[in-house]
Amino acid sequence: MAIAFLNDDFVPLEEARISPMDRGFLFGDGIYEVIPSYGGKLIGLNLHLTRLENGLNEIKIDIPWNRAALTAIFKKLMDQNGNGNLGIYLQITRGVTMKRNHAFPATTTPTLFAYTFDIPAPVTGDPDKVTHWKVTTRRDLRWQRCHIKSTSLLGNVLHMMEGVNDGGGEVLMFDANDQLTEAAACNVFVVHGNEVKTPPLDQHKLAGVTRDMALQILRARSSLKVTETQITRDEVLHADEVWLSSSTKELEPVVSIDGRAVGDGQPGPIWSQAQSLFDLHRFDHFE
Ligand SMILES: Cc1ncc(COP(=O)(O)O)c(C=O)c1O
Repeated sequence: MAIAFLNDDFVPLEEARISPMDRGFLFGDGIYEVIPSYGGKLIGLNLHLTRLENGLNEIKIDIPWNRAALTAIFKKLMDQNGNGNLGIYLQITRGVTMKRNHAFPATTTPTLFAYTFDIPAPVTGDPDKVTHWKVTTRRDLRWQRCHIKSTSLLGNVLHMMEGVNDGGGEVLMFDANDQLTEAAACNVFVVHGNEVKTPPLDQHKLAGVTRDMALQILRARSSLKVTETQITRDEVLHADEVWLSSSTKELEPVVSIDGRAVGDGQPGPIWSQAQSLFDLHRFDHFE
């Protein structure tokens, strides 16, 4: 039986209930995280908790749970759900008010909901054991605060559905100046020769934990040139390799964009090197 955590209790997932007057339900007024774990070991925990705190500060939700309390909840949740390959979904909303009003209420008690879901076994850098992504492109039509990991995800949901309807399941998105932002639920890396690039962080992209870990690992462990720089649509379309990154995927190769092969249409050697390094170092300590 799947076990979830809601406010103060561990409960069977199917019995977890919140009020329809919760501002998370009414307004998408909340922050979420997805933290991967393998065999009961959390990956990138500090980076996830820092991003959570940044998001909560930005939208002014105070929570009574400190890092130790949250970590204890995650550990117990993993235990109760079998300690396999699990993603931990955590959502904190501003809580319940009996009047629907856009403005924040003076006081509310935040709602904390967490549950686990199965994720695939870690990818090793073997091209035969990884998804080969065939993606399409779109103008990024989301809001101007994509750096906040908000539960208001309709912009991302609509872009993801474009990817699903195109047959590939993800889209690469570009701003009005044809600069790469990210994908509907991933960050994006682009390889030209020996250089691995990803767009710099700003309010048009989520600060992905996997992106951060990959940058740290590649800078410390490889001789590749690693840069955070604007990347034009033309540079993406003529790249040797393109990768998606997210907590549940780590690094996964894109093999075609809008029906045109990326490189030779197979996962590239730099991807394989990068994901092999990620496989060796995912449990290192990251700050
Ligand atoms: C829009 C968006 N960008 C990037 C990411 C990757 O973030 P992370 O590596 O922290 O999972 C996600 C993950 O959900 C996302 O939704």
